[in-house]
Amino acid sequence: MFDSIQKLPPDPILGLTAAFENDPNPAKVDLGAGVYKDESGTTPIFKSVKEAERRWEQQENTKVYISPPGFADFNSAIQKLILGADHPALAAGRVRSVMAPGGCGALRVGAELINRCKAGSTIRVSRPTWANHVPLLGSAGLRIAEYPYYDGTTHAVDFTAMTRALEGAAKGDLVLLHGCCHNPTGADLKPQQWDAVAQIAARGGLVPFVDLAYQGLGEGMDQDAYGPRVLARTVPEMLLAYSCSKNFGLYRDRIGALLIVSPTPGQSDAALTHINNIARGIYSMPPAHGGALVKTVLNDPALRAQWQAEVDGMRRRIHTLRALLADTLKKLNAPRDFEFIKREYGMFSFLGVSKEQVQRLRTEFSIYMVDSSRVNIAGVSPINVDYLAGAIISVL
Ligand code: LMR
Repeated sequence: MFDSIQKLPPDPILGLTAAFENDPNPAKVDLGAGVYKDESGTTPIFKSVKEAERRWEQQENTKVYISPPGFADFNSAIQKLILGADHPALAAGRVRSVMAPGGCGALRVGAELINRCKAGSTIRVSRPTWANHVPLLGSAGLRIAEYPYYDGTTHAVDFTAMTRALEGAAKGDLVLLHGCCHNPTGADLKPQQWDAVAQIAARGGLVPFVDLAYQGLGEGMDQDAYGPRVLARTVPEMLLAYSCSKNFGLYRDRIGALLIVSPTPGQSDAALTHINNIARGIYSMPPAHGGALVKTVLNDPALRAQWQAEVDGMRRRIHTLRALLADTLKKLNAPRDFEFIKREYGMFSFLGVSKEQVQRLRTEFSIYMVDSSRVNIAGVSPINVDYLAGAIISVL
């Protein structure tokens, strides 16, 4: 069976982490995978999460299977975190969710559900989008199409082109929208633009599938959920894949959620049976540990306040690093304007340099970023910023 199997190239994002680790250059800089880093370059465990882990360890008295949707008190807390406690879709009983193995697990199960409801459905993804969206959604059998999103010359969302494309989409098409902190560009929709997208989706019978992987790291916990909240008020049905990797720092614990909104509680219940059945056919039930930590944090007011403060601190630091990088490039007389970096949200920015220049940064300076020139801003620090800015200028 394996006679003819060929080795695949490394993953375009995760492969960078391995290459970085193997690089002996002490000046190396990792701007690859989207993981938060502190001043010392480590990805810390949240203090609130560590405390939740201590409590859970004392409380957990069995390792028996959990139910397919996961913990009920995880699901109710995450639904309210995403939609806000008083959202009309929640009050109407139209929302269901399950714990999932990370945002990837949620995206994949959601894609399988779509394919079950309407095989070969078309899902429109932003151009560009996260490198893993296409394989994740495509492997479930969905047809992938694109809508224009980012204009590399203005370093901003091309909203006119985006809305024109969405207005031309066929009824029943899915639209993948980044809830906040667009990956890979950091260019987000403004509230009025979300309102307009929700109206287009409602008018055109499009079904939004939101990927919300960075809630709290853009502008704030509620601000970052503006889009999903307005969509869930405006359209009859939608899906949302949630990740707790970044905003709880639970990357390797693989915890996320798949949330669905349908027109009636009965349809949502029916969809939930399919979600559970799809998960049963892949991994049976979600891993429990990360969900236990998240529910412990969210359902304890003091721990939740501590967690919120930790996320706020990360967000503020990322904003500071954006300014640090842009200002240092200016100070060193970069031949281009990099002020746009300050106007973006979340961990990512597109530097707008060519693939060849990205390769030179890697081979000549041991600076690692995705080939598209996506950088993880959290990898910038006061210690490496002069070296980094100098290297960028020298390849320009
Ligand atoms: C990223 O975009 O770098 C992160 O979401 C990590 C990943 O899985 O790709």
